[in-house]
Amino acid sequence: MKDTPAWRALTAHRDALARQRIEALWRQDPRRGDDFTFPCGGIAVDFSKQKITRETLKLLMDLARARGVPHAIERLFAGERVNASEKRPALHMALRGDEHVSVDGTDVMPEIERNRDRIRVFTNAVRAGQWKGATGLKITHVVAIGIGGSVLGPQLAIEALHDRANGPEVRFIANIDPADFDDAVTGLKPASTLVVVASKTFTTQETMVNAAAARNWISAALGPDAVSKHFIGATANAGEAVKWGLPDCNVFPFHDWVGGRYSLWSSVGIPIALAIGMQGFDELLAGAHAVDLEFRSCPLERNVPVLLGLVGLWNRNALGIPSHAVLGYASRLASLPAYLQQLEMESNGKRVDAEGRPVGVETCPVIWGGTETPGQHAFHQWLHQGTDIASCDFIVSAKPMGNEIDHHRILLANALAQSEALMAGVETKEPWRVCPGDRMSTTFVLPQLDPRHLGALLAIYEHKVFVQATIWGINPFDQFGVELGKTIAGRILPALHGAEADLHPATRHLLGVLQKLGAPH
Ligand code: F6P
Repeated sequence: MKDTPAWRALTAHRDALARQRIEALWRQDPRRGDDFTFPCGGIAVDFSKQKITRETLKLLMDLARARGVPHAIERLFAGERVNASEKRPALHMALRGDEHVSVDGTDVMPEIERNRDRIRVFTNAVRAGQWKGATGLKITHVVAIGIGGSVLGPQLAIEALHDRANGPEVRFIANIDPADFDDAVTGLKPASTLVVVASKTFTTQETMVNAAAARNWISAALGPDAVSKHFIGATANAGEAVKWGLPDCNVFPFHDWVGGRYSLWSSVGIPIALAIGMQGFDELLAGAHAVDLEFRSCPLERNVPVLLGLVGLWNRNALGIPSHAVLGYASRLASLPAYLQQLEMESNGKRVDAEGRPVGVETCPVIWGGTETPGQHAFHQWLHQGTDIASCDFIVSAKPMGNEIDHHRILLANALAQSEALMAGVETKEPWRVCPGDRMSTTFVLPQLDPRHLGALLAIYEHKVFVQATIWGINPFDQFGVELGKTIAGRILPALHGAEADLHPATRHLLGVLQKLGAPH
Protein backbone atom coordinates (compact mmCIF):
# COMPACT_ATOMS: atom_id res chain seq x y z
CA MET A 1 0.00 0.00 0.00
CA LYS A 2 2.80 2.38 0.97
CA ASP A 3 4.37 2.28 -2.46
CA THR A 4 1.30 3.58 -4.31
CA PRO A 5 1.16 7.21 -5.50
CA ALA A 6 -2.33 7.27 -3.97
CA TRP A 7 -0.89 6.62 -0.49
CA ARG A 8 1.83 9.23 -0.97
CA ALA A 9 -0.85 11.76 -1.95
CA LEU A 10 -2.79 10.81 1.16
CA THR A 11 0.15 11.29 3.49
CA ALA A 12 0.85 14.73 2.02
CA HIS A 13 -2.80 15.61 2.48
CA ARG A 14 -2.66 14.23 6.05
CA ASP A 15 0.30 16.48 6.88
CA ALA A 16 -1.74 19.51 5.85
CA LEU A 17 -4.97 18.38 7.51
CA ALA A 18 -3.53 17.07 10.78
CA ARG A 19 -3.12 20.61 12.11
CA GLN A 20 -6.83 21.36 11.64
CA ARG A 21 -9.38 20.45 14.25
CA ILE A 22 -12.56 18.61 13.29
CA GLU A 23 -14.42 21.54 14.86
CA ALA A 24 -12.70 23.89 12.40
CA LEU A 25 -13.75 21.65 9.51
CA TRP A 26 -17.34 22.05 10.71
CA ARG A 27 -17.00 25.83 10.82
CA GLN A 28 -15.58 25.93 7.29
CA ASP A 29 -18.19 23.55 5.95
CA PRO A 30 -21.50 23.62 7.85
CA ARG A 31 -23.08 21.29 5.24
CA ARG A 32 -20.72 18.46 6.13
CA GLY A 33 -23.40 16.80 8.26
CA ASP A 34 -25.58 16.16 5.23
CA ASP A 35 -22.72 15.58 2.85
CA PHE A 36 -20.94 13.04 5.03
CA THR A 37 -24.02 11.03 6.04
CA PHE A 38 -24.81 8.05 3.82
CA PRO A 39 -27.65 5.50 3.92
CA CYS A 40 -27.02 1.77 3.80
CA GLY A 41 -29.55 -0.99 4.39
CA GLY A 42 -31.85 1.57 6.04
CA ILE A 43 -29.12 2.74 8.46
CA ALA A 44 -27.80 6.32 8.29
CA VAL A 45 -24.04 6.42 8.77
CA ASP A 46 -22.66 9.83 9.74
CA PHE A 47 -18.94 10.38 9.12
CA SER A 48 -19.07 14.13 9.71
CA LYS A 49 -17.19 13.91 13.02
CA GLN A 50 -14.21 12.26 11.35
CA LYS A 51 -11.12 14.27 10.50
CA ILE A 52 -11.88 14.13 6.80
CA THR A 53 -12.71 16.54 4.02
CA ARG A 54 -14.06 15.94 0.54
CA GLU A 55 -10.43 15.87 -0.61
CA THR A 56 -9.64 13.15 1.95
CA LEU A 57 -12.46 10.99 0.60
CA LYS A 58 -11.36 11.57 -2.96
CA LEU A 59 -7.82 10.49 -2.15
CA LEU A 60 -9.06 7.49 -0.19
CA MET A 61 -11.13 6.47 -3.22
CA ASP A 62 -8.00 6.72 -5.34
CA LEU A 63 -6.24 4.42 -2.88
CA ALA A 64 -9.15 1.95 -2.96
CA ARG A 65 -9.02 1.87 -6.75
CA ALA A 66 -5.24 1.60 -6.81
CA ARG A 67 -5.48 -1.39 -4.45
CA GLY A 68 -8.17 -3.06 -6.58
CA VAL A 69 -11.16 -2.84 -4.23
CA PRO A 70 -13.85 -2.89 -6.99
CA HIS A 71 -12.28 -5.97 -8.59
CA ALA A 72 -11.89 -7.66 -5.18
CA ILE A 73 -15.61 -7.12 -4.46
CA GLU A 74 -16.49 -8.77 -7.78
CA ARG A 75 -14.19 -11.71 -7.06
CA LEU A 76 -15.74 -12.12 -3.60
CA PHE A 77 -19.31 -12.25 -4.90
CA ALA A 78 -18.38 -14.39 -7.90
CA GLY A 79 -17.29 -17.16 -5.54
CA GLU A 80 -13.61 -17.00 -6.44
CA ARG A 81 -11.10 -18.47 -4.01
CA VAL A 82 -10.43 -15.25 -2.13
CA ASN A 83 -9.32 -17.29 0.90
CA ALA A 84 -6.05 -18.19 -0.78
CA SER A 85 -4.31 -19.98 2.11
CA GLU A 86 -7.25 -22.37 2.53
CA LYS A 87 -8.06 -22.31 -1.20
CA ARG A 88 -11.73 -21.49 -0.62
CA PRO A 89 -14.23 -18.87 -1.63
CA ALA A 90 -15.85 -16.79 1.12
CA LEU A 91 -19.48 -16.93 0.15
CA HIS A 92 -21.38 -16.23 3.36
CA MET A 93 -23.37 -13.62 1.37
CA ALA A 94 -24.97 -16.48 -0.58
CA LEU A 95 -26.60 -17.67 2.66
CA ARG A 96 -28.69 -14.53 2.82
CA GLY A 97 -29.36 -13.97 -0.88
CA ASP A 98 -30.97 -15.63 -3.84
CA GLU A 99 -28.48 -14.87 -6.60
CA HIS A 100 -27.12 -17.98 -8.25
CA VAL A 101 -23.43 -18.49 -7.73
CA SER A 102 -21.21 -21.42 -8.67
CA VAL A 103 -18.41 -23.08 -6.79
CA ASP A 104 -16.37 -25.52 -8.91
CA GLY A 105 -19.02 -25.28 -11.61
CA THR A 106 -21.93 -26.18 -9.31
CA ASP A 107 -24.66 -23.69 -8.52
CA VAL A 108 -24.75 -23.64 -4.72
CA MET A 109 -28.09 -21.84 -4.37
CA PRO A 110 -30.36 -24.93 -4.58
CA GLU A 111 -28.49 -26.55 -1.68
CA ILE A 112 -28.54 -23.33 0.35
CA GLU A 113 -32.30 -23.13 -0.17
CA ARG A 114 -32.75 -26.77 0.86
CA ASN A 115 -30.71 -26.14 4.01
CA ARG A 116 -32.74 -23.02 4.78
CA ASP A 117 -35.99 -24.97 4.30
CA ARG A 118 -34.81 -27.65 6.72
CA ILE A 119 -34.03 -24.99 9.31
CA ARG A 120 -37.49 -23.51 8.77
CA VAL A 121 -39.31 -26.83 9.17
CA PHE A 122 -37.28 -27.83 12.22
CA THR A 123 -37.45 -24.54 14.11
CA ASN A 124 -41.18 -24.17 13.39
CA ALA A 125 -41.76 -27.68 14.74
CA VAL A 126 -39.83 -27.01 17.94
CA ARG A 127 -41.55 -23.67 18.53
CA ALA A 128 -44.99 -25.16 17.86
CA GLY A 129 -44.35 -28.04 20.27
CA GLN A 130 -44.56 -30.63 17.47
CA TRP A 131 -40.95 -31.65 18.03
CA LYS A 132 -41.03 -33.23 21.45
CA GLY A 133 -38.39 -34.44 23.85
CA ALA A 134 -37.91 -38.16 24.57
CA THR A 135 -40.67 -38.21 27.19
CA GLY A 136 -43.12 -36.28 25.02
CA LEU A 137 -42.58 -32.88 26.62
CA LYS A 138 -42.43 -29.67 24.61
CA ILE A 139 -39.00 -28.02 24.32
CA THR A 140 -38.93 -24.97 26.59
CA HIS A 141 -35.16 -24.39 26.74
CA VAL A 142 -32.28 -24.52 24.33
CA VAL A 143 -28.66 -24.90 25.34
CA ALA A 144 -26.49 -23.64 22.50
CA ILE A 145 -22.91 -24.93 22.67
CA GLY A 146 -20.19 -23.37 20.52
CA ILE A 147 -17.29 -20.97 20.69
CA GLY A 148 -16.01 -18.02 18.65
CA GLY A 149 -18.01 -17.56 15.49
CA SER A 150 -20.19 -20.51 16.39
CA VAL A 151 -21.70 -18.65 19.34
CA LEU A 152 -20.96 -14.92 19.20
CA GLY A 153 -23.43 -14.13 16.42
CA PRO A 154 -26.40 -16.07 17.84
CA GLN A 155 -25.74 -14.66 21.31
CA LEU A 156 -25.59 -11.09 20.03
CA ALA A 157 -28.70 -11.51 17.87
CA ILE A 158 -30.82 -13.11 20.57
CA GLU A 159 -29.86 -10.44 23.09
CA ALA A 160 -30.35 -7.63 20.59
CA LEU A 161 -33.76 -8.94 19.54
CA HIS A 162 -34.92 -9.79 23.03
CA ASP A 163 -38.30 -8.14 22.45
CA ARG A 164 -38.95 -10.65 19.64
CA ALA A 165 -37.88 -13.70 21.64
CA ASN A 166 -41.10 -15.63 22.08
CA GLY A 167 -39.72 -19.15 21.61
CA PRO A 168 -37.76 -21.39 23.95
CA GLU A 169 -35.30 -19.63 26.22
CA VAL A 170 -31.79 -19.97 24.82
CA ARG A 171 -28.73 -20.27 27.06
CA PHE A 172 -25.17 -20.41 25.78
CA ILE A 173 -22.12 -22.43 26.72
CA ALA A 174 -18.87 -21.29 25.14
CA ASN A 175 -16.21 -21.50 27.80
CA ILE A 176 -14.47 -24.70 28.86
CA ASP A 177 -14.59 -23.29 32.40
CA PRO A 178 -16.88 -25.86 34.10
CA ALA A 179 -18.79 -23.00 35.69
CA ASP A 180 -20.15 -22.09 32.25
CA PHE A 181 -21.73 -25.52 31.86
CA ASP A 182 -23.07 -25.61 35.42
CA ASP A 183 -24.54 -22.10 35.20
CA ALA A 184 -26.20 -22.78 31.85
CA VAL A 185 -27.99 -25.97 32.91
CA THR A 186 -28.93 -24.82 36.39
CA GLY A 187 -32.71 -25.05 36.75
CA LEU A 188 -33.20 -26.78 33.38
CA LYS A 189 -35.07 -30.04 32.94
CA PRO A 190 -33.31 -32.41 30.52
CA ALA A 191 -36.71 -33.64 29.29
CA SER A 192 -37.65 -30.22 27.91
CA THR A 193 -34.18 -29.07 26.80
CA LEU A 194 -32.77 -29.14 23.28
CA VAL A 195 -28.99 -28.92 22.86
CA VAL A 196 -27.61 -27.27 19.71
CA VAL A 197 -23.96 -28.11 19.11
CA ALA A 198 -22.55 -25.55 16.67
CA SER A 199 -19.07 -26.12 15.35
CA LYS A 200 -17.82 -25.68 11.82
CA THR A 201 -15.20 -28.39 12.34
CA PHE A 202 -17.01 -30.43 15.02
CA THR A 203 -13.59 -30.96 16.58
CA THR A 204 -13.03 -27.78 18.64
CA GLN A 205 -11.90 -28.89 22.08
CA GLU A 206 -14.06 -26.61 24.21
CA THR A 207 -17.20 -27.30 22.21
CA MET A 208 -16.76 -31.06 22.04
CA VAL A 209 -15.97 -31.38 25.75
CA ASN A 210 -19.03 -29.29 26.63
CA ALA A 211 -21.14 -31.28 24.16
CA ALA A 212 -20.03 -34.54 25.79
CA ALA A 213 -20.96 -33.15 29.22
CA ALA A 214 -24.38 -32.20 27.86
CA ARG A 215 -24.80 -35.69 26.41
CA ASN A 216 -24.00 -37.20 29.81
CA TRP A 217 -26.47 -34.79 31.43
CA ILE A 218 -29.26 -35.78 29.02
CA SER A 219 -28.43 -39.51 29.01
CA ALA A 220 -28.20 -39.71 32.81
CA ALA A 221 -31.75 -38.37 33.06
CA LEU A 222 -33.41 -39.85 29.98
CA GLY A 223 -31.21 -42.73 28.77
CA PRO A 224 -28.76 -42.84 25.83
CA ASP A 225 -31.52 -43.15 23.20
CA ALA A 226 -32.75 -39.67 24.10
CA VAL A 227 -29.85 -38.08 22.21
CA SER A 228 -31.77 -38.08 18.92
CA LYS A 229 -34.60 -36.05 20.46
CA HIS A 230 -32.41 -33.63 22.39
CA PHE A 231 -29.38 -32.86 20.22
CA ILE A 232 -28.85 -31.29 16.85
CA GLY A 233 -25.63 -30.18 15.19
CA ALA A 234 -24.80 -27.19 12.98
CA THR A 235 -21.58 -27.96 11.16
CA ALA A 236 -19.57 -28.04 7.96
CA ASN A 237 -18.29 -31.49 8.98
CA ALA A 238 -21.43 -33.63 8.91
CA GLY A 239 -19.39 -36.85 8.95
CA GLU A 240 -17.84 -35.97 12.30
CA ALA A 241 -21.24 -35.02 13.75
CA VAL A 242 -22.66 -38.41 12.72
CA LYS A 243 -19.61 -40.16 14.22
CA TRP A 244 -20.30 -38.26 17.43
CA GLY A 245 -23.72 -39.89 17.56
CA LEU A 246 -26.15 -37.58 15.83
CA PRO A 247 -28.62 -39.11 13.36
CA ASP A 248 -28.21 -37.69 9.83
CA CYS A 249 -31.48 -35.83 10.07
CA ASN A 250 -30.31 -33.98 13.20
CA VAL A 251 -27.32 -32.53 11.35
CA PHE A 252 -27.83 -29.12 9.74
CA PRO A 253 -24.90 -28.59 7.42
CA PHE A 254 -23.25 -25.55 5.96
CA HIS A 255 -20.47 -25.26 3.40
CA ASP A 256 -16.78 -25.08 4.23
CA TRP A 257 -16.60 -21.75 2.40
CA VAL A 258 -18.55 -20.17 5.27
CA GLY A 259 -15.94 -18.84 7.72
CA GLY A 260 -16.65 -19.32 11.43
CA ARG A 261 -17.00 -15.61 12.09
CA TYR A 262 -19.36 -15.30 9.12
CA SER A 263 -21.50 -18.29 10.06
CA LEU A 264 -24.42 -16.76 11.94
CA TRP A 265 -26.31 -16.65 8.62
CA SER A 266 -26.05 -20.44 8.27
CA SER A 267 -27.43 -23.25 10.45
CA VAL A 268 -25.27 -21.77 13.23
CA GLY A 269 -28.14 -19.25 13.43
CA ILE A 270 -30.66 -21.98 14.41
CA PRO A 271 -30.80 -20.74 18.04
CA ILE A 272 -31.86 -17.33 16.65
CA ALA A 273 -34.66 -18.89 14.62
CA LEU A 274 -35.71 -20.93 17.65
CA ALA A 275 -35.81 -17.84 19.85
CA ILE A 276 -37.42 -15.28 17.54
CA GLY A 277 -39.00 -17.45 14.86
CA MET A 278 -38.01 -18.09 11.27
CA GLN A 279 -39.69 -14.92 10.06
CA GLY A 280 -37.38 -12.85 12.25
CA PHE A 281 -34.36 -14.88 11.08
CA ASP A 282 -35.42 -14.30 7.45
CA GLU A 283 -35.61 -10.55 8.17
CA LEU A 284 -32.11 -10.65 9.66
CA LEU A 285 -30.87 -12.31 6.46
CA ALA A 286 -32.80 -9.84 4.32
CA GLY A 287 -31.22 -6.87 6.11
CA ALA A 288 -27.76 -8.26 5.47
CA HIS A 289 -28.65 -9.10 1.87
CA ALA A 290 -29.77 -5.51 1.24
CA VAL A 291 -26.29 -4.37 2.30
CA ASP A 292 -24.65 -7.00 0.06
CA LEU A 293 -26.51 -5.60 -2.93
CA GLU A 294 -25.43 -2.06 -2.10
CA PHE A 295 -21.85 -3.09 -1.42
CA ARG A 296 -21.70 -4.83 -4.76
CA SER A 297 -23.36 -2.12 -6.83
CA CYS A 298 -22.95 1.34 -5.25
CA PRO A 299 -20.23 3.60 -6.56
CA LEU A 300 -17.32 3.66 -4.11
CA GLU A 301 -18.07 7.29 -3.23
CA ARG A 302 -21.45 6.33 -1.71
CA ASN A 303 -20.65 2.80 -0.68
CA VAL A 304 -20.93 2.69 3.11
CA PRO A 305 -18.84 -0.43 3.82
CA VAL A 306 -16.15 1.00 1.53
CA LEU A 307 -16.33 4.38 3.28
CA LEU A 308 -16.24 2.75 6.71
CA GLY A 309 -13.22 0.68 5.75
CA LEU A 310 -11.40 3.63 4.24
CA VAL A 311 -12.12 5.99 7.13
CA GLY A 312 -10.92 3.30 9.55
CA LEU A 313 -7.77 2.87 7.52
CA TRP A 314 -7.26 6.65 7.42
CA ASN A 315 -7.50 6.76 11.21
CA ARG A 316 -5.19 3.79 11.65
CA ASN A 317 -2.53 4.40 9.04
CA ALA A 318 -2.59 8.12 8.35
CA LEU A 319 -3.53 9.50 11.78
CA GLY A 320 -1.92 6.66 13.79
CA ILE A 321 -4.91 5.83 16.00
CA PRO A 322 -4.23 2.43 17.64
CA SER A 323 -7.61 1.56 19.10
CA HIS A 324 -11.23 1.70 18.13
CA ALA A 325 -14.18 1.71 20.54
CA VAL A 326 -17.66 0.49 19.66
CA LEU A 327 -20.20 2.32 21.81
CA GLY A 328 -23.67 0.81 21.62
CA TYR A 329 -26.32 3.13 23.00
CA ALA A 330 -28.57 0.10 23.51
CA SER A 331 -28.33 -2.24 26.45
CA ARG A 332 -29.33 -5.07 24.12
CA LEU A 333 -26.14 -4.52 22.12
CA ALA A 334 -23.91 -5.47 25.05
CA SER A 335 -22.37 -8.31 23.03
CA LEU A 336 -21.61 -6.22 19.95
CA PRO A 337 -18.02 -5.34 20.94
CA ALA A 338 -17.19 -9.01 21.52
CA TYR A 339 -18.75 -9.95 18.19
CA LEU A 340 -16.80 -7.25 16.35
CA GLN A 341 -13.63 -8.15 18.19
CA GLN A 342 -13.71 -11.57 16.59
CA LEU A 343 -14.88 -10.26 13.22
CA GLU A 344 -12.22 -7.58 12.92
CA MET A 345 -9.31 -8.82 15.00
CA GLU A 346 -9.42 -12.47 13.92
CA SER A 347 -9.79 -11.37 10.29
CA ASN A 348 -7.33 -8.51 10.06
CA GLY A 349 -5.07 -9.02 13.07
CA LYS A 350 -2.26 -10.09 10.74
CA ARG A 351 1.25 -8.90 9.96
CA VAL A 352 1.91 -10.45 6.57
CA ASP A 353 -0.03 -10.16 3.35
CA ALA A 354 -1.62 -12.98 1.40
CA GLU A 355 1.77 -13.68 -0.25
CA GLY A 356 3.54 -13.84 3.11
CA ARG A 357 5.30 -10.48 2.82
CA PRO A 358 5.22 -7.99 5.71
CA VAL A 359 2.21 -5.71 5.27
CA GLY A 360 4.41 -2.69 5.96
CA VAL A 361 1.79 -0.64 7.80
CA GLU A 362 -0.21 -1.16 11.00
CA THR A 363 -3.26 -3.36 10.49
CA CYS A 364 -6.38 -3.94 12.61
CA PRO A 365 -6.55 -1.62 15.63
CA VAL A 366 -7.57 -2.92 19.04
CA ILE A 367 -11.35 -3.26 18.90
CA TRP A 368 -13.14 -2.83 22.20
CA GLY A 369 -16.16 -1.05 23.53
CA GLY A 370 -19.07 -1.06 25.88
CA THR A 371 -22.72 -0.51 26.50
CA GLU A 372 -23.81 3.03 27.03
CA THR A 373 -24.61 4.91 29.10
CA PRO A 374 -22.90 2.73 31.76
CA GLY A 375 -19.58 3.02 29.91
CA GLN A 376 -19.80 6.80 30.31
CA HIS A 377 -19.39 6.23 34.05
CA ALA A 378 -16.38 4.02 33.53
CA PHE A 379 -13.98 4.32 30.61
CA HIS A 380 -15.23 7.49 28.87
CA GLN A 381 -12.93 9.45 31.21
CA TRP A 382 -10.07 7.78 29.30
CA LEU A 383 -11.68 8.62 25.96
CA HIS A 384 -11.95 12.31 26.86
CA GLN A 385 -8.72 12.94 28.76
CA GLY A 386 -6.44 9.94 28.32
CA THR A 387 -3.05 10.25 26.64
CA ASP A 388 -4.05 7.87 23.84
CA ILE A 389 -6.75 8.49 21.30
CA ALA A 390 -9.38 5.99 20.24
CA SER A 391 -11.66 6.42 17.27
CA CYS A 392 -15.27 5.56 18.16
CA ASP A 393 -18.39 4.13 16.54
CA PHE A 394 -21.61 5.30 18.15
CA ILE A 395 -24.58 2.99 17.49
CA VAL A 396 -27.99 4.48 18.24
CA SER A 397 -31.57 3.55 17.50
CA ALA A 398 -33.97 6.36 16.60
CA LYS A 399 -36.96 4.50 18.02
CA PRO A 400 -37.01 3.46 21.67
CA MET A 401 -36.23 -0.11 22.68
CA GLY A 402 -38.47 -0.09 25.73
CA ASN A 403 -41.67 1.47 26.96
CA GLU A 404 -40.32 4.51 28.82
CA ILE A 405 -39.97 7.10 26.06
CA ASP A 406 -38.32 9.59 28.38
CA HIS A 407 -35.54 7.12 29.13
CA HIS A 408 -34.91 6.92 25.43
CA ARG A 409 -34.74 10.71 25.11
CA ILE A 410 -32.06 10.75 27.82
CA LEU A 411 -30.21 7.92 26.09
CA LEU A 412 -30.17 9.83 22.79
CA ALA A 413 -29.14 13.09 24.47
CA ASN A 414 -26.18 11.28 25.98
CA ALA A 415 -25.16 9.68 22.70
CA LEU A 416 -25.22 13.02 20.91
CA ALA A 417 -23.46 14.73 23.82
CA GLN A 418 -20.61 12.23 23.94
CA SER A 419 -19.72 12.44 20.26
CA GLU A 420 -19.96 16.24 20.42
CA ALA A 421 -17.82 16.39 23.58
CA LEU A 422 -15.20 14.08 22.09
CA MET A 423 -15.00 16.28 19.01
CA ALA A 424 -15.35 19.75 20.56
CA GLY A 425 -13.59 19.26 23.90
CA VAL A 426 -13.42 22.12 26.37
CA GLU A 427 -10.80 24.72 27.28
CA THR A 428 -10.69 25.96 30.87
CA LYS A 429 -8.13 27.55 33.19
CA GLU A 430 -8.00 24.41 35.33
CA PRO A 431 -5.88 21.88 33.45
CA TRP A 432 -7.63 18.91 35.04
CA ARG A 433 -10.91 20.05 33.51
CA VAL A 434 -9.53 20.50 30.00
CA CYS A 435 -10.82 18.04 27.42
CA PRO A 436 -8.65 18.41 24.34
CA GLY A 437 -11.36 17.17 21.98
CA ASP A 438 -10.60 16.51 18.31
CA ARG A 439 -11.47 12.85 18.91
CA MET A 440 -13.08 11.32 15.84
CA SER A 441 -16.24 9.23 15.65
CA THR A 442 -18.77 7.73 13.26
CA THR A 443 -22.44 7.51 14.25
CA PHE A 444 -24.74 4.75 13.00
CA VAL A 445 -28.41 5.66 13.30
CA LEU A 446 -30.71 2.63 13.05
CA PRO A 447 -34.39 3.45 12.63
CA GLN A 448 -34.95 0.72 15.20
CA LEU A 449 -33.19 -2.26 16.66
CA ASP A 450 -34.99 -4.99 14.74
CA PRO A 451 -33.81 -8.06 12.80
CA ARG A 452 -33.54 -6.23 9.49
CA HIS A 453 -31.36 -3.42 10.78
CA LEU A 454 -29.25 -5.70 12.96
CA GLY A 455 -28.57 -7.82 9.87
CA ALA A 456 -27.67 -4.70 7.91
CA LEU A 457 -25.35 -3.42 10.64
CA LEU A 458 -23.42 -6.69 10.86
CA ALA A 459 -23.08 -6.97 7.08
CA ILE A 460 -21.75 -3.40 6.91
CA TYR A 461 -19.02 -4.36 9.38
CA GLU A 462 -18.26 -7.62 7.54
CA HIS A 463 -17.67 -5.77 4.30
CA LYS A 464 -15.68 -3.05 6.06
CA VAL A 465 -13.28 -5.80 7.15
CA PHE A 466 -13.02 -7.06 3.57
CA VAL A 467 -12.29 -3.58 2.21
CA GLN A 468 -9.52 -2.99 4.73
CA ALA A 469 -8.07 -6.46 4.14
CA THR A 470 -8.00 -5.78 0.40
CA ILE A 471 -6.10 -2.54 0.84
CA TRP A 472 -3.66 -4.07 3.31
CA GLY A 473 -3.31 -7.11 1.05
CA ILE A 474 -4.35 -9.45 3.88
CA ASN A 475 -6.36 -12.67 3.60
CA PRO A 476 -9.09 -11.94 6.19
CA PHE A 477 -10.59 -15.42 6.01
CA ASP A 478 -7.95 -17.50 7.82
CA GLN A 479 -6.71 -17.40 11.44
CA PHE A 480 -3.49 -19.34 11.82
CA GLY A 481 -2.46 -17.21 14.81
CA VAL A 482 -4.85 -19.10 17.06
CA GLU A 483 -3.22 -22.48 16.41
CA LEU A 484 0.00 -22.14 18.42
CA GLY A 485 -1.72 -21.75 21.78
CA LYS A 486 -3.97 -24.72 21.03
CA THR A 487 -0.92 -26.91 20.31
CA ILE A 488 0.87 -25.85 23.50
CA ALA A 489 -2.28 -26.45 25.58
CA GLY A 490 -2.33 -29.97 24.16
CA ARG A 491 1.23 -30.50 25.52
CA ILE A 492 0.41 -29.06 28.95
CA LEU A 493 -2.85 -30.92 29.58
CA PRO A 494 -1.21 -34.32 30.37
CA ALA A 495 0.80 -32.61 33.13
CA LEU A 496 -2.47 -31.56 34.75
CA HIS A 497 -3.36 -35.26 34.85
CA GLY A 498 -0.06 -35.97 36.60
CA ALA A 499 1.73 -37.37 33.52
CA GLU A 500 5.28 -36.50 32.52
CA ALA A 501 5.23 -33.70 29.95
CA ASP A 502 7.86 -31.76 28.09
CA LEU A 503 7.18 -28.27 29.47
CA HIS A 504 8.80 -24.88 29.10
CA PRO A 505 10.42 -23.91 32.44
CA ALA A 506 8.16 -20.85 32.72
CA THR A 507 5.12 -23.08 32.30
CA ARG A 508 6.46 -25.70 34.70
CA HIS A 509 6.98 -22.93 37.27
CA LEU A 510 3.41 -21.61 37.00
CA LEU A 511 1.99 -25.11 37.03
CA GLY A 512 3.79 -25.61 40.32
CA VAL A 513 2.28 -22.41 41.73
CA LEU A 514 -1.18 -23.52 40.60
CA GLN A 515 -0.80 -26.96 42.13
CA LYS A 516 0.47 -25.56 45.43
CA LEU A 517 -2.68 -23.43 45.50
CA GLY A 518 -5.04 -26.30 44.82
CA ALA A 519 -5.14 -27.01 41.07
CA PRO A 520 -5.96 -30.65 40.30
CA HIS A 521 -3.06 -33.01 39.52
O1 F6P B 1 -10.20 -20.36 17.41
C1 F6P B 1 -10.52 -20.01 16.13
C2 F6P B 1 -11.80 -20.57 15.59
O2 F6P B 1 -11.47 -21.43 14.55
C3 F6P B 1 -12.75 -19.48 15.10
O3 F6P B 1 -12.40 -18.94 13.89
C4 F6P B 1 -14.04 -20.20 15.10
O4 F6P B 1 -15.12 -19.32 15.02
C5 F6P B 1 -13.94 -20.94 16.42
O5 F6P B 1 -12.57 -21.31 16.52
C6 F6P B 1 -14.83 -22.14 16.54
O6 F6P B 1 -14.54 -23.10 15.57
P1 F6P B 1 -15.59 -24.25 15.25
O7 F6P B 1 -16.82 -23.59 14.75
O8 F6P B 1 -14.94 -25.12 14.23
O9 F6P B 1 -15.86 -24.99 16.52
